Amino acid sequence: MKLDILYASTTGNAEMVAKKLLLLSKEAGFQSRMYEMNDFDFESFSKLKNVAIVTSTYGDGDVPDMGIDFWKSLEFRDTKLVNQNYGLIALGDRSHDKFCGAGRKISMKLDKLESNRIIDRLECDGDTEGTYEWSIKFIKVLKDKISGNLKMSPSGTCETCNNDSKKIANKLKNRDPKDINFNEAKKIFRPLTGKSED
Ligand SMILES: Cc1cc2nc3c(=O)[nH]c(=O)nc-3n(C[C@H](O)[C@H](O)[C@H](O)COP(=O)(O)O)c2cc1C
Repeated sequence: MKLDILYASTTGNAEMVAKKLLLLSKEAGFQSRMYEMNDFDFESFSKLKNVAIVTSTYGDGDVPDMGIDFWKSLEFRDTKLVNQNYGLIALGDRSHDKFCGAGRKISMKLDKLESNRIIDRLECDGDTEGTYEWSIKFIKVLKDKISGNLKMSPSGTCETCNNDSKKIANKLKNRDPKDINFNEAKKIFRPLTGKSED
């Protein structure tokens, strides 16, 4: 399970939050890496599957220098990011007109490009309160989503499945694996054993 954490900070708050998320996600079994936001442009970013973004706001609702090139590369793109999961923490201060402007515009853009927002954006006012709880929840939801459930969605699609798990999901339909008796389970899960089907 991979997680890429991108941050943009000016005085260090967002960096500190990103570092905590890095440690927590590693403890939870993720192969996580942390980057300055400008290390990515749209092309490289679009290849990421699981992303956490931590950004503060500077100037007048702007992305900090450390992320401005990334934002310029993202801002006018329209290529969809449907295979990506993301969560975002926005740091800011309500004394400014454009509260959490940077985090808001990045997450609104990602929503528009259909990157899957797996939990709601956190907006912090003047401090980093709530970031620990958000990080724990984000890691849990992401883990469940990745390793989780083979049940088919109502549309019959299973984005995270490989061919074997797609076959299994098709046979399971909307049933929970624990409700299936042993003989039927043997047949359903046969693709994973490498034995051919009858
Ligand atoms: C010069 C300056 C401009 C700022 N502009 C905004 C702003 O437009 N909107 C906002 O919500 N917060 C703004 N902030 C608040 C910061 O985003 C907030 O203090 C944040 O926690 C800083 O995080 P960082 O240390 O990671 O950069 C500004 C702060 C400074 C010093």
